[in-house]
Amino acid sequence: MGGGAWGVVPRHLIDPWYRAIFVRRSVRAYDGRPVGREAIGEIRELLDGFSPLCEGARAVLLEEGAQEILSGTVGSIGKIQGAGAVVVFIADKSHPQWQAAAGYLGEGIILHATSLGLGTCWVAGTYKRSEARRRIALSVSESIVAVTPLGRPAAAESAGAQVIRAVAGSHKRKPLETLTRGVAADQWRLGCREALEAARLAPSAANRQPWQFGVMPDRVVVRASGPDLMPVVPNRLDCGIVMLHLEVGARAHGLEGSWTFLQRPLVAEYVFEPAGDPDHQART
Ligand SMILES: Cc1cc2nc3c(=O)[nH]c(=O)nc-3n(C[C@H](O)[C@H](O)[C@H](O)COP(=O)(O)O)c2cc1C
Repeated sequence: MGGGAWGVVPRHLIDPWYRAIFVRRSVRAYDGRPVGREAIGEIRELLDGFSPLCEGARAVLLEEGAQEILSGTVGSIGKIQGAGAVVVFIADKSHPQWQAAAGYLGEGIILHATSLGLGTCWVAGTYKRSEARRRIALSVSESIVAVTPLGRPAAAESAGAQVIRAVAGSHKRKPLETLTRGVAADQWRLGCREALEAARLAPSAANRQPWQFGVMPDRVVVRASGPDLMPVVPNRLDCGIVMLHLEVGARAHGLEGSWTFLQRPLVAEYVFEPAGDPDHQART
């Protein structure tokens, strides 16, 4: 079932990733320039350090082939233009929580890239998976779940990208009241509201926001809600993304804690450390 503690973002990344939450948006048109050496080096460093914390998923940075992989599906529907590189998110399906693991890892990479001034976009449907697969050696239990372009945003979006943004209603988010269950808001731990606000801003496939939060005085439980969009975009992938936002928002506001995966339809719970736990400094 994949129980046990899991994940947890290195402490020095919390503040830059928290700031990135508020400026990130999906970018589908780039200026065509390569991603600079410095930023590539920073992303590679993150992959080496953060991926091992996300058991069940890994990511590969490709500096060649971005255009072929991102050339859309039927005709040029969903085509992403001018990206300098691409990161491919891979899940190990033998891990019981592979979808959430891939979402959590992928969003960490996306927020990191955002903090470096790069544009990104989760793409799980409108890309050529065969082109990505051709470039990466996968083990028998591994599967590519999504990719993100990396690059400098172009001055203007293409008409196609504007259509996708409009259809998905990309800027809209559900109000917190409709996403939360559990104890009344006046019993939430200090910082919990900010953590939930950061979670609310998480991206999701077609902007469906398929998650619910059970808020207790000492924890937040993440639950998947609604049917999967398609077999290729399970809700639990989106829930992994929201987990990353929730944790970053909580820890940016002093709520250290840890994750434990739970049985379906629940996904995981973030249990706060008791206030003033002296061990947490040592661990971070
Ligand atoms: C798991 C996932 C899969 C996505 N797949 C696609 C895709 O295939 N094509 C695309 O153009 N956008 C895709 N998106 C981007 C969403 O449409 C976008 O995140 C959402 O509309 C919210 O907009 P924002 O990212 O600008 O906040 C995907 C997002 C997520 C999280």
